[in-house]
Amino acid sequence: MTIQSIFESKFSGSPDIIVRSPGRINLIGEHTDYNEGFVLPAAIDKEVLLALRKRDDEKISLFAADFNESYSASLYDLFPANRSWPAYILGVVQQLLQREVALHGFDAVLLSTVPVGAGMSSSAAIECAVIFALNEVFESRLGKIDMIKLTQKAENEYVGVKCGIMDMFASMMGKHGHAIKLDCKDLNYRYFPITLDGFKIVLFDTGVRHSLAFGEYNLRRVQCEEGVSFLQKKYSFIKSLRNVTNEMLQNDLKGKVSEIVYNRCRYVVEEIQRVTEGCDDLERNDLAAFGRKMFQTHQGLSNLYEVSCKELDFLVDFAKHEPAIAGARMMGGGFGGCTINIIKENAIEDIYARISVAYENTFGLELKMYEMTTQSGASVIK
Ligand code: GLA
Repeated sequence: MTIQSIFESKFSGSPDIIVRSPGRINLIGEHTDYNEGFVLPAAIDKEVLLALRKRDDEKISLFAADFNESYSASLYDLFPANRSWPAYILGVVQQLLQREVALHGFDAVLLSTVPVGAGMSSSAAIECAVIFALNEVFESRLGKIDMIKLTQKAENEYVGVKCGIMDMFASMMGKHGHAIKLDCKDLNYRYFPITLDGFKIVLFDTGVRHSLAFGEYNLRRVQCEEGVSFLQKKYSFIKSLRNVTNEMLQNDLKGKVSEIVYNRCRYVVEEIQRVTEGCDDLERNDLAAFGRKMFQTHQGLSNLYEVSCKELDFLVDFAKHEPAIAGARMMGGGFGGCTINIIKENAIEDIYARISVAYENTFGLELKMYEMTTQSGASVIK
């Protein structure tokens, strides 16, 4: 069924608008966005579709086709939703109301091909689709950057995940065939052509979903802030880990804060440098050097930042021994979800056959694979 026909059968009549908004991958630069560092994400061909129609009253009537679930709320009563998907919608509505955008109620249908909890930002894709559609239908004339910032606030304040800006930025600003080198300090960005000569970006999905991840995510943020506050006593110009050098880590942080805080900060400082160097590798077409950085990132995420899990580590270890895999690492917030791999195109099938058997033998879990194609950011379909 198309989203149009689902809408018609649920609400009778046509939607005013249908928009699409993609999920994202991230080549390198993990947990750097909320530390004012660099990231290198790209929008992908897995996306959220949203069909929406204005109402004359204040009612918000929602249907998530993938879960066959309905939810209703009122513009005047946006109490936190007890399920995840409505929260991503109502959080955006709340932000728009706070900005005094003149909203009415609306009917909406959501249909998504972004796997949930796999680290491809299905939530940001929903939030971006919602703000994009409401902005059009209620003519609130917000620019893309404003919309990106509001969706991040929605996630921070309503959903309660203190996420950075990468996911929304990629979903809104993605460009087919390109990654985005984004400076999360000032939102300067540059499109980076992804030319992988005979290689492809492939995700392996552990199938592991950790409900603890939100709390751990927010905790990482606090630990990074603790490192920054400590360093600020000596270096008043420091605003974030972006301003911190290897020397400061060694001379001013090591042994002076807890080992955990030091490790978190060390990972982030090194990862910010890796993004810059990794972009140079890509520019030189040196995939081998870029791939080595992906493995280093994983090591840091696993040992210093401690956001990996045994299933992700297993997949990356396996990849390390495959000559046809240039690089691999866990992707996204962590504690489950996918690894991102750069694999020689003609070896993908063979590698998948072997890694999925090994994975299933070890964990008793099915390993899903997604071959990635990049896409453009959120847009109106109808
Ligand atoms: C999640 C967050 C992002 C980012 C990544 C880790 O996807 O939503 O803001 O911090 O984790 O890089």
